[in-house]
Amino acid sequence: GSVASTIVERNPNFSTINHDDLIYFDKILGAKKVIQDPEELQTANTDWMHKYKGSSKLMLQPENTTELSQILDYCNSRRLAVVPQGGNTGLVGGSVPVFDEIIINTRRMNSVISFDQVSGVLVCEAGCILENLISFLDKKGFIMPLDLGAKGSCQIGGNISTNAGGLRLVRYGSLHGTVLGLEVVLANGSVIDMLGTLRKDNTGYDLKHLFIGSEGSLGIITKVSILTPPKLSSVNIAFLACEDYISCQKLLFQAKRRLGEILSAFEFLDSQAMNLVLHHLDGVRNPLPSSIYNFYVLIETTGSNESNDKATLEAFLLHAMENGLVSDGALAQDFSQASSFWHIREGIPEALQKAGAVYKYDLSLPVEKMYDLVEEMRTRLGAAANVVGYGHLGDGNLHLNVSARQYDDAILAQIEPFVYEWTSQHRGSISAEHGLGLMKAEKIYYSKSSETVQLMASVKKLLDPNGILNPYKVIPSSLVS
Ligand code: FAD
Ligand code: MLT
Ligand code: ZN
Repeated sequence: GSVASTIVERNPNFSTINHDDLIYFDKILGAKKVIQDPEELQTANTDWMHKYKGSSKLMLQPENTTELSQILDYCNSRRLAVVPQGGNTGLVGGSVPVFDEIIINTRRMNSVISFDQVSGVLVCEAGCILENLISFLDKKGFIMPLDLGAKGSCQIGGNISTNAGGLRLVRYGSLHGTVLGLEVVLANGSVIDMLGTLRKDNTGYDLKHLFIGSEGSLGIITKVSILTPPKLSSVNIAFLACEDYISCQKLLFQAKRRLGEILSAFEFLDSQAMNLVLHHLDGVRNPLPSSIYNFYVLIETTGSNESNDKATLEAFLLHAMENGLVSDGALAQDFSQASSFWHIREGIPEALQKAGAVYKYDLSLPVEKMYDLVEEMRTRLGAAANVVGYGHLGDGNLHLNVSARQYDDAILAQIEPFVYEWTSQHRGSISAEHGLGLMKAEKIYYSKSSETVQLMASVKKLLDPNGILNPYKVIPSSLVS
């Protein structure tokens, strides 16, 4: 079966790579940054889910902004299409070519440029791996304002290009707030220096926001300036069980009030998600083994007063248990237990990947309605597939995943367009945090008005008149080319 429900055609305006192109790239980059090795290309052509596969014959790995600028200038004049690629952990088919686009991978641009201990502003290159930034900051007593399960591979440039949300958004907000500056290279090779480090700067249009969440369709991010919060001394984490979804909701309502300024994460998973993790990941234990519960909630607090914070969380939990919102719970006693709680939540995507084919939906919905969709989907699919719900409940972000033995058009027909129509009817978003990529470029109208999409296409045309940057993604193909 076809996995991309929309079959796109190669844009005939794009050239194909010839011998002279290769000679040029070798000349400006040196042979080791011009990759034609079939095995390396196979990996770079395939997305994390093994769902989207391109057929690019060339990957370039520039080492700095100048090299990247030369590449884009050349590709633009030759009308060679390109795909910007970071850690290739994207979940919507945005980071791999659709046809023979040149892959421009940023992994060699991985230096920290500066860190200011007073302001907490970190300036680094786009190819820095998130986990390496987390370790770098840890030694200085700071943390990254975002954290996600893909931290070991994803790059900060990829995070910003997808406007990744993750596990701490409920506390530190989105990257539109924490990213203070960017350097980007446009399709024609011009370098736009917006690499400010200030919290406040109202001198005209704040154009960096165009590149946050534009999935490589408007320019390639080369440098980043980001505000990092201090690492606070007291972090506590609770793993809780709820009988029903309404209890999870009430628990969130209570957590926002009673934990207030120390609440740093509020995540949920259903029993189907829990079972997948227990089944497919090695060494995972259920922290609440005495029974099977319908829902699990993970609550983290982060603050600066160890005894107070712990007491606040304990009082909150006691109250929740007395009110019947929580049926069982465990409070991490040490760092290793805390990591094991997080591992369950963060391991869900990997468990789903191991379980077989997965249809992934990443939706913003009103919290009260969110789980109705999961239940309706279960009714629609019956025994044909395993419907799994989890996500960032504190942000109103549901991850609805349908897990099946293999990709099957009959299953897909039961899911789409139902899931998008349902979301649209509830005024939700069909992409809360993963982006549109190839998967949802044609579905954008479920979440945006046609005038808005038209304006997006005009911006795209202005910044990338030949449409060489990440074609077939984000914007419906009828509006480009
Ligand atoms: P890639 O996958 O390489 O690219 C993603 C997109 O950005 C592509 O469109 C690409 O063309 C573009 N791009 C990459 N680098 C640049 C650049 N320098 N300039 C311009 N465009 C660029 N997402 C969340 O929001 N929250 C989560 O909690 C979360 N958890 C995840 C957990 C797992 C296990 C996995 C596999 C993914 C998860 N994701 C999550 C998906 C998320 O989109 C990515 O993990 C991450 O943000 C992408 O970074 P990357 O470097 O891998 O980018
Ligand atoms: C997550 O929250 O685990 C990520 O967004 C990945 C996913 O949705 O599977
Ligand atoms: Zn997520």
